[in-house]
Amino acid sequence: MNVLAALITAIWMALPAYIPNNVAVLAGGGRPIDGGRDFRGARLLGDGKTWRGTAAGVLAGVATALVLNGLVGFASRVLGVDLPIFPLDVAIAFPAGALLGDILASFLKRRIGRARGSAFPVVDQLDFLAVALGLGFLIAPGWMRSVLTPLVLVTLVVLTPGLHLLTNGIAYVLGLKNEPW
Ligand code: CTP
Ligand code: MG
Repeated sequence: MNVLAALITAIWMALPAYIPNNVAVLAGGGRPIDGGRDFRGARLLGDGKTWRGTAAGVLAGVATALVLNGLVGFASRVLGVDLPIFPLDVAIAFPAGALLGDILASFLKRRIGRARGSAFPVVDQLDFLAVALGLGFLIAPGWMRSVLTPLVLVTLVVLTPGLHLLTNGIAYVLGLKNEPW
């Protein structure tokens, strides 16, 4: 696989993990997952992790995978790359893992005394990808090994922080997000 094919495959396979956090920003609000509870002197997760944002994010991620499955033949022909089809378990695991990663990072941030919205460099940019891919490996190891070649993995690790900062920067400029990270 050449670098361009790896780049296209990386973006394609990660889209169901990229979309949920952005949709959570748009849909967030309402009841926090932790119900306002504290844990060891700080909020368990904080007001930035809500049921509505999480549910909307997972649904949007699953829908993304299903739409990509519908387009896979056409896209593979046009782009000249043999793009993967998402099995249903992966289509659910990627969005759920992405939001779980983000939630775990908030848990960690509260434990080390960082307020809601504070930046946590590297973790903020890669938490969702790491847990989405990890859950993918747990649920569909064969599919993951065939799609996530070492080159695709390296591409994702290099590409994701930049993409994350770009989309969050855009959301900040549009007034949709309180911080640009
Ligand atoms: N959001 C949500 N539910 C989630 C994730 C995000 O409702 N599971 C929404 C919240 O409105 C949140 C916004 O998206 O404020 C931005 O998400 P993020 O930057 O992840 O949260 P922060 O507010 O920065 O909180 P934290 O410091 O806990 O990450
Ligand atoms: Mg944040």
